[in-house]
Amino acid sequence: MADLYGQYLNIKEEVDQAIQEVIESAIFIKGGKVTEFEHHLNEYMGCPTITCGNGTDALQIAFMALALEPGDEVITTPFTFVATAEVLALLGLKPVFVDVEPGTFNIDISKIEASITSRTRAILPVHLFGQSVDMEQIMGIARKHDLFVVEDAAQSLGTDYSFTNGKLRSGTIGHIGCTSFFPSKNLGAFGDGGALFTRNEELAAKIRSIANHGMKVRYYYERIGVNSRLDSIQAAILDVKLKYLDNYIRARQTAAQWYDSQLAYLENLLIPKRVTFSTHSFHQYTIRTGNRDGLQAFLKSRGIPSMIYYPRPIHLQEAYGYLGYKEGDFPVAEQLSNEVLSLPMHTELDDVQLAYITDTILEFFGNNR
Ligand SMILES: Cc1ncc(COP(=O)(O)O)c(C=O)c1O
Repeated sequence: MADLYGQYLNIKEEVDQAIQEVIESAIFIKGGKVTEFEHHLNEYMGCPTITCGNGTDALQIAFMALALEPGDEVITTPFTFVATAEVLALLGLKPVFVDVEPGTFNIDISKIEASITSRTRAILPVHLFGQSVDMEQIMGIARKHDLFVVEDAAQSLGTDYSFTNGKLRSGTIGHIGCTSFFPSKNLGAFGDGGALFTRNEELAAKIRSIANHGMKVRYYYERIGVNSRLDSIQAAILDVKLKYLDNYIRARQTAAQWYDSQLAYLENLLIPKRVTFSTHSFHQYTIRTGNRDGLQAFLKSRGIPSMIYYPRPIHLQEAYGYLGYKEGDFPVAEQLSNEVLSLPMHTELDDVQLAYITDTILEFFGNNR
């Protein structure tokens, strides 16, 4: 699904040198490379950036910074990675799910307002697979109902969202944005990492403090925090890779174009829908087909990996049974979990591999050309 070693080999000298510099500096936590990387990511995003231990922590820290009360409700989708809802549950907040759109897999904005109650405090849109939710609409609803917006941009780093009046990076539009540097993400570390984005200085200061034990000055604590810091070796690697992020995204888009060109006309398969207000960074290229399991088995028999993101929506997961949702509550998410299949998608896919993958899919559907 990803060729992380192949990607490393192309930038080996720079990465090795950066790691060596950290070892020689002996600055392993905070300072040094972490500060440099935050500065560069800040420039890339056009938004103040605070790094942390991973994307899940980023979401947790974001909601801690907003100081919501236990029982407060946060609207999000059940068709996402579990971390999106997990952090809400951990903080005693109530995830309130809204179904997704079948084409983009993102939250169905037309259904949000019907889910707002007197306890609703925030909307948590997830830019799934690398394409942004329509943030102008989300921000409009948030303003109207006085809600916070926290963007889960774990899969959409490098995606651009177009407003009526310009463009902003995905993750920099809500009150807080969160991302992940999990190795296979658009910008992947050699371990865990995450970051938060906010233009609000007060929130930024709170977030910095929470991510570092709630510390104000050394050994004096102004709030209860967590230990969630990006380490210097990961920062050094990410700082090298950030220079290549736009190239990496172009490589993903080129692979996606190939998949489109070969698969778009197939009757039994749907390619991912594109929207006009967002670029697509193709963290995943996810198709839909009624014979998903058959296709996956066929691909596997030919040595082609594929993944199901996500096989069971969160409202039907055992751990989230306490929320009281049942089968049928979110029919689109449920149908998608039976139909989606993510094809290999990474920066090192070559023409031969891509042709092999699409020829195999065409063969499965009886369209051998
Ligand atoms: C949508 C989404 N949210 C949150 C996360 C959590 O990120 P991490 O794995 O860095 O904790 C991920 C990634 O795994 C994700 O895909």
